[in-house]
Amino acid sequence: MIANSVFSLLLIYLYATLRRTHGCCISTQTDPTPEKPKRIMHFKSKGDEYYTPSNAFEEIKDLIPKGVILDPFNNINEPKSLHSQSFLKDLGREVVDSVYNPDTDENNFMDNDGFAWDVCVSNPPFSCKKDILRKLFSLDKPFMVLLPITTICCSYYIEMTRNINCQIIVPKKRYNFNYHLDSKRNCSFDCVWICYKCELECTNGVMGGSM
Ligand SMILES: C[S@@+](CC[C@H](N)C(=O)[O-])C[C@H]1O[C@@H](n2cnc3c(N)ncnc32)[C@H](O)[C@@H]1O
Repeated sequence: MIANSVFSLLLIYLYATLRRTHGCCISTQTDPTPEKPKRIMHFKSKGDEYYTPSNAFEEIKDLIPKGVILDPFNNINEPKSLHSQSFLKDLGREVVDSVYNPDTDENNFMDNDGFAWDVCVSNPPFSCKKDILRKLFSLDKPFMVLLPITTICCSYYIEMTRNINCQIIVPKKRYNFNYHLDSKRNCSFDCVWICYKCELECTNGVMGGSM
């Protein structure tokens, strides 16, 4: 009985220590994970066909670093998935015309090497966010990607950003996405913009650090 209690206390202490050491760091040191990103074919999940409302881009428009934007996540068979590139162009930005073809695998983001771009701004397929984040960090260029807020609590994210200075933009209101089969769906979770090398000033709504 006493041994059980001592063991439980030890576990709680270990857990608290781990949370503290993982959660505290804001570092400017850049050390992208050496693990190679997996190559992904089309993710083929209809759960990935949720499209970004224009207000999501309007909200961050003044925070996007200068230069050519890559918004690589779309699908030639899903015309609504290309609207995000138009929204970014409507904001006066130059956007690479990259269209992913899942049938031929042309412009698969995981192969991304054919375009010249300065900053990646996109809403990736959530079903493989871990591999996409790994690929993005390995490219070591500025990015702003829209992902569920729970991503920042995932052990792989904590591991990937251990020595990396990421910033997070918390939207003023929860975004509702457009689903490929109908127009609007109420989203049951919050998303944030995870930003890397964007040198955001810390103001209301922008949190520094990787926690
Ligand atoms: C969450 S949706 C975002 C679509 C659009 N860019 C937007 O913001 O509304 C993600 C899109 O990425 C596409 N996709 C899946 N695998 C991909 C890959 N390997 N490379 C590029 N796009 C991919 C999906 O088919 C889907 O259309």
